[in-house]
Amino acid sequence: MPFNGSSRRLFIGRKISCAAMPLTYYLWASPDCVPKDASGKFFAHFRFHMANTILVGMQWGDEGKGKIIDVLTARTDIVVRSQGGNNAGHTVIHRGLKYVLHLIPSGILRHRKICVIGNGVVIDPVALVTEIDGLRRLGVNIDKNLLISDCAHLVLPYHRLLDEQRELRRGRIGTTKRGIGPAYGDKAARTGLRVSDLMQPIVFSKKLQAKIVENNRILQALGAKPISFRDVNETYLAAGKKLRPYVTNTVVYLHRAMDRGKQILFEGAQGTFLDIDHGTYPYVTSSNTTAGGACTGTGVPPHRMDRVVGVMKAYSTRVGDGALPTEDAQLAQMFHNLGREFGATTGRKRRCGWFDAVATRYAGMINGIDEVAITNLDGLDQVDPIRICVGYQLHGKRLDVPPCDATQLANCEPVYEEVAGWNTSINRARKFSQLPSAARKYVRYLSELAGGKLSMVSVGPARGETIVL
Ligand code: IMP
Ligand code: MG
Repeated sequence: MPFNGSSRRLFIGRKISCAAMPLTYYLWASPDCVPKDASGKFFAHFRFHMANTILVGMQWGDEGKGKIIDVLTARTDIVVRSQGGNNAGHTVIHRGLKYVLHLIPSGILRHRKICVIGNGVVIDPVALVTEIDGLRRLGVNIDKNLLISDCAHLVLPYHRLLDEQRELRRGRIGTTKRGIGPAYGDKAARTGLRVSDLMQPIVFSKKLQAKIVENNRILQALGAKPISFRDVNETYLAAGKKLRPYVTNTVVYLHRAMDRGKQILFEGAQGTFLDIDHGTYPYVTSSNTTAGGACTGTGVPPHRMDRVVGVMKAYSTRVGDGALPTEDAQLAQMFHNLGREFGATTGRKRRCGWFDAVATRYAGMINGIDEVAITNLDGLDQVDPIRICVGYQLHGKRLDVPPCDATQLANCEPVYEEVAGWNTSINRARKFSQLPSAARKYVRYLSELAGGKLSMVSVGPARGETIVL
């Protein structure tokens, strides 16, 4: 195996010993007992090293990150989104209620957790206001616990319309049609509007007018209806007014919080193979979904990151177009019959396939995965034998890494290994030892193939249906 991930921690110099951890936790839990003199600096030094965790998806998104984030949030202070927009759909089931979060970090469902929408996110302000109102109706408190970066770019109606138009044409990606690609396109072209613009109505209106004139020409050339400046200006300024209390310089906030010993969870959206650089281009989203995106999308430097947790399903799924080498129609049919694997954002049926160790091993390398959380293990309760893709075959040659080219990837034939299933329901297991031996073997093998230490196994959608190792 070429990448066994043995040197995955990039910043070894920052690591603290395990022996120091209980002391660190104690100090954090009781900030008043931290001396404020010179020795305070000594303790503060330890407090600096509390675990800041990056959580990423190791497949094509929808790995069940929402639930794992929710579980990890119990042990963190701040949850930050660093990339993507309301294309994301993070499902969390709590006390029988189902929450689907799109822009707001999943930490919002826990008391006393601060949620930050970082500079790398693209925000549709109208969708964000709708999400805030919807959560409030469900009894979720949103007040001083939400912060929005003033540097984040805005998604505007012409982005959504352009996204829709492009999807009607050849070369479609199968996007969520939320305007994500065009919004990031404007950001890269340096013609985007940002939250800080929205906070200054006169500046915003002026910039918006110019953008609408330009984009209406493009929309008309594509055969779409032009949009009204007045309508957009009015609705966006109204949404901006509602969001104003949350807008701040989140970079400074995060750095100050770290200096006070607060722990941060960086909540990844989408997955490694939807990454604009490392994914199955062009069938990708327009942001860096991999671990590096957590730094650029928040302004927290790499040396402040302590661990990377990769989330992967016990099998593969994908929504949208592009290759899914292990795709299997029968497996998909079985999941859909069970009511599983429908997109949280668009409701589309997800494409399904066997676990792909070629892809996840590569994801382990790119993200520097320390720990692995395996989700949806219960989805395979009735499957026996279970297949695992351990290599690709392309034109008679064996490949151990996914090829960069989309056509080549589409032509790859998976090489499978078969392992025994467990043929029983596992969603009551709360300890690793309560899993059937075949299930234990399966998850251990997957984490070994992906190159990370197994730290969590999810056996059902609810918060409690989680085994922490
Ligand atoms: P976009 O992000 O809407 O531009 O879509 C680009 C590709 O990423 C499409 O294949 C989408 O289905 C996929 N995608 C975007 N967001 C998610 C997500 O949160 N989960 C899974 N797939 C996603
Ligand atoms: Mg999702």
